[in-house]
Amino acid sequence: MILLTGGAGYVGSHVCVALLDAGLDVVAVDNLSNSNKASLERVQAICGRSLVFRQADICDEEAIYQILRAYEVTAVIHLAGFKAVGESTAQPMSYYENNVVGTMRLVSAMTRASVKTLVFSSSATVYGRPTYLPLDEKHPVGPTNPYGRTKHFIEEILMDLHGSDDEWRIGILRYFNPVGAHESGLIGEDPLGVPNNLLPFVAQVAIGKRDKLHIWGGDYDTPDGTGVRDFIHVVDLASGHLSALSHLKQPGVLTVNLGTGTGCSVLEVVRTFEAASGRPIPYVISERRIGDVATCFADPSCAERLWGWKSSRSLTQMCTDHWRWQMNNPNGYRGT
Ligand code: UD1
Repeated sequence: MILLTGGAGYVGSHVCVALLDAGLDVVAVDNLSNSNKASLERVQAICGRSLVFRQADICDEEAIYQILRAYEVTAVIHLAGFKAVGESTAQPMSYYENNVVGTMRLVSAMTRASVKTLVFSSSATVYGRPTYLPLDEKHPVGPTNPYGRTKHFIEEILMDLHGSDDEWRIGILRYFNPVGAHESGLIGEDPLGVPNNLLPFVAQVAIGKRDKLHIWGGDYDTPDGTGVRDFIHVVDLASGHLSALSHLKQPGVLTVNLGTGTGCSVLEVVRTFEAASGRPIPYVISERRIGDVATCFADPSCAERLWGWKSSRSLTQMCTDHWRWQMNNPNGYRGT
């Protein structure tokens, strides 16, 4: 049995599908602070298999310990965490508490239950401002906001954990920009309030919930002046977790990028989404967003070398699938 923290969330629900489709049994743990249990009902409909859901907080060590024991968990995929950069600057302590302390409690519960295989959801945000591109795993880290620092500190804590007990098998996955949705249109990203990230905002403009997109900066040193990112289809990202899990056979810590290796500009995303949806995306070029970098994309070759994993879905597919989810679920999981 695999325990998935943050299992009802955007990435979590897609990882559940990957695990169930691979024949693994899943107990999804989520405190539902930024997710909806309906996502897991949809996951079961997609896979035609059931999973276990337990509402619990990773900060509650005893509850996690009991779940680990009750379901004879052999490995944990840890996705739960706060993830809004702006909010992390306003409320750093709650980010450190929830993300860093929460992970420490989870690890304590795992240690008590002798479960020592862990896949952790980190972020390319740990690299901070790139000094060279593409970003490989050896690029120096230097996150520029509290959210990024929580990911960086957790990575360090996990290294120390392995240093103290070399039975641990740990995979640290540095995500680039996850977008898109499962092709069924049943599960996808369901942000609360105004989306911070590009694709959810674009999708809400396309469906008429928002007037226009603000493109944060049109004067970057990039081919069209807008920011360039490595957008990765969430289904490809999810399969990376399965690859990590099935290859963590030896004790050790592996830190691996999950990206496509291709940078796409904000304007390219807008054009591709317009084509995929058949809807216009009105936009204005606005001031740069504080903390943004011009260009960020992965060298994803390590994951391919180690695990034979690479992404396969195009930007068109990302936009098509994101749009299908948005069309079928204009209010996300609310109202289901
Ligand atoms: C952001 C976070 C990153 C986090 C990731 C999760 C920041 C600075 N970084 O990455 O830490 O791991 O999300 O997915 O917030 N854009 C617009 N208009 C919008 C929204 C975005 O022009 O309304 C632009 C941004 O300026 C950027 C690109 O779209 O150039 C991607 O932005 P976003 O989706 O927020 O991702 P990141 O900033 O790369």
